[in-house]
Amino acid sequence: MEQSNIEDLLRQMTLEEKIGQLTQITGDFYSDKAEDRTGPMSQLGLDDEQITNVGTVLGVVGASECRRIQRQYMERNRLHIPTMFMGDVIHGYETIFPIPLGLASSWDTDAFEEMARVSAEEASVSGLSAVFSPMVDLVRDPRWGRVMESTGEDPFLNGKFASAMVTGYQGEPGELQDHFNKVAACVKHFAAYGAVTGGRDYNTVDMSEQRLRDVYLRGYHAAIEAGARLVMTSFNTVGGIPATGNRHLMQDILRDEFGFDGVLISDFGAVKELISHGVAADESQAASLSIHAGVDIEMMTLCYMHTLEALVTSGAVDERLIDESVLRILRLKNELGLFEHPFRGADEAREKEIVFSTSHRATARRITAESLVLLRNNDATLPLKASQSIALLGPAAQSPDILGAWSWRGRTDRAVTLMQGLRKFASADGESMRSHVKTTEERCDYFVPTESVIAASVELAKHADVVILALGELSTMSGEAASRSNIHLPKGQIALFDAVHKVNPHIVVVLFNGRPLDLSGIEAADAILEAWYPGTEGGAAIADVLFGAVNPSGKVTMSFPESVGQIPVFYDEDNTGRPYEQAPNEKYVSKYLDVSNYAAYPFGFGLSYSHFSYGSPVVSVSGNGFSAEHPAIIRVSITNDSEVDGVEIAQLYVRDLVGEVVRPVKQLKGFQRVALAAGETREIEFELDEKDVRYVHLDDSMRSDPGDFLVWVAGNSRDLSNPIRLHLE
Ligand code: IFM
Repeated sequence: MEQSNIEDLLRQMTLEEKIGQLTQITGDFYSDKAEDRTGPMSQLGLDDEQITNVGTVLGVVGASECRRIQRQYMERNRLHIPTMFMGDVIHGYETIFPIPLGLASSWDTDAFEEMARVSAEEASVSGLSAVFSPMVDLVRDPRWGRVMESTGEDPFLNGKFASAMVTGYQGEPGELQDHFNKVAACVKHFAAYGAVTGGRDYNTVDMSEQRLRDVYLRGYHAAIEAGARLVMTSFNTVGGIPATGNRHLMQDILRDEFGFDGVLISDFGAVKELISHGVAADESQAASLSIHAGVDIEMMTLCYMHTLEALVTSGAVDERLIDESVLRILRLKNELGLFEHPFRGADEAREKEIVFSTSHRATARRITAESLVLLRNNDATLPLKASQSIALLGPAAQSPDILGAWSWRGRTDRAVTLMQGLRKFASADGESMRSHVKTTEERCDYFVPTESVIAASVELAKHADVVILALGELSTMSGEAASRSNIHLPKGQIALFDAVHKVNPHIVVVLFNGRPLDLSGIEAADAILEAWYPGTEGGAAIADVLFGAVNPSGKVTMSFPESVGQIPVFYDEDNTGRPYEQAPNEKYVSKYLDVSNYAAYPFGFGLSYSHFSYGSPVVSVSGNGFSAEHPAIIRVSITNDSEVDGVEIAQLYVRDLVGEVVRPVKQLKGFQRVALAAGETREIEFELDEKDVRYVHLDDSMRSDPGDFLVWVAGNSRDLSNPIRLHLE
């Protein structure tokens, strides 16, 4: 439809119809089962007329159901405007990929794009037009349950993953219109939701404007620059004002500075929560604050529906504001081709072929293997040898609870458990591992393993060459509203570890969890493989890595603390006036008395079955000076000095030595996944541009400071040596 036709349509709409477009409700309201409709309908008090004006629907899927609702909706809607289905497809639709924090460990932007492409194909054929992803909240506090949904602690990396996901969901600009296997992306939660105080969900966020812009907003900005068509507000306050009613955040920054012209949707109930926050006395004030902030769609509360008409009549809200929001929503529906093709991709026959297809599962298996992180591997315990007998023990050994939170359509009954993965694995020469892997008949509890399961585990461990102990968190222990103050493994699991270790010290721990954990208690493990919540193909991908069919390459994108008391512990902290490193034996330096300053496993860390060594970096520019016109090319050679082919994630770190605002001690500015055959040496190069070292100054401008910079290329953020010194003219 032409833009002018959309404007015509708007002119024909009554105020009530316009306000309907600004409201989102769940699919229960359109159910053809009376019992579904009476529950939520009676609670919200919506009548049939209002329901036929509501502009978008949350959480309905299935090609046939979406087609039914759309058909009925368009018949009843006076102007035959199509509705639009949106849902939480975060790390897969039915083919579930690793949780985003796991996927991030691959440092593979193509993997993110691929995950989003597969998810878009499955979601769109099942009727969805928009997904509430990517979630790009930067996180530095592993107590927060939603760290599992994020891609970690680094703004640069988060931005790269965010734009890859947007491209995967939406395709190239303009493709949404006639590529019905693509969906609109919604970047969330704007803004800084990952910085909630104390890691407690929904809590306050308070930080300087400089930090907000320089660190926390970069990921969202990258997603918007990549073309994300929707943005979701966050539940938290920013600078004392809840995001959903925060005009500075939404108008000055999001719309005016970032140039976002798409649809801004509130989080679930967040408009009405302005009353609980105490910035609105009632629904009318909540609606007024939100519409003035530019929130186009109110999700699942009815402040707009109940009060906007009166606010317009009284002159408190200008109808033009409402028109602008409606236009943005209609424009999005048009960009998705919904006016001409109201069912879009929804197709029952193709749904059966595409969703959870063999090829999607194969993609998930390949990508999942990339997301696993080898945290420890003493004496080359891994990979396991085909001849070894294995006792597979612990609560996660046979558990299908490996999809992680926000895997709405994922089915645990179709997930490949670790037990199934190990038993099905066949070595390169075709030998099956079935007979080599033994486990207890009784399932082990996550919190209180019974005496009998501990006894049976000990018995199996005694007779095995190696023990695989599958430990971790239930998936309900992370995700929304799942913050923890104690991020240890449950005590019962440590007791199991100790009992088994007494009879067999050869323990490989495989961890299933949604956050960086404090891993005290399992120090005696020979090897630790971090599997996160690996998704549908988890067990198969883990078996690939444990048996060496795939060489692990993942590196963590969020630091694992040594203890909760260090939180937040992250790699790119600011320098202090009394840095510990300059005088480690002094009393009056920045340190703890009882724990180190450092993460147990720092950002960027992960082992491989190969060993890589780095040469000294060299720089191409004469006199080591670089400028806006002449970027520096940094070259370094990396050698795989082992007998196994592998992939190394090489990382470029930079430190700005003197700035107007205190600069971090190191910042990631580049990375590459480098595949190296056994014995191979390769020179790789990074380009460092003046733009790369720009940051937000006190006047909010993004610019660089001339002066000296240190540059390192390394395999993780801790082991930095041989810096080169560059000078920015
Ligand atoms: O998309 C989610 C959001 O992340 C948390 N609240 C509910 C929304 C819709 O389900």
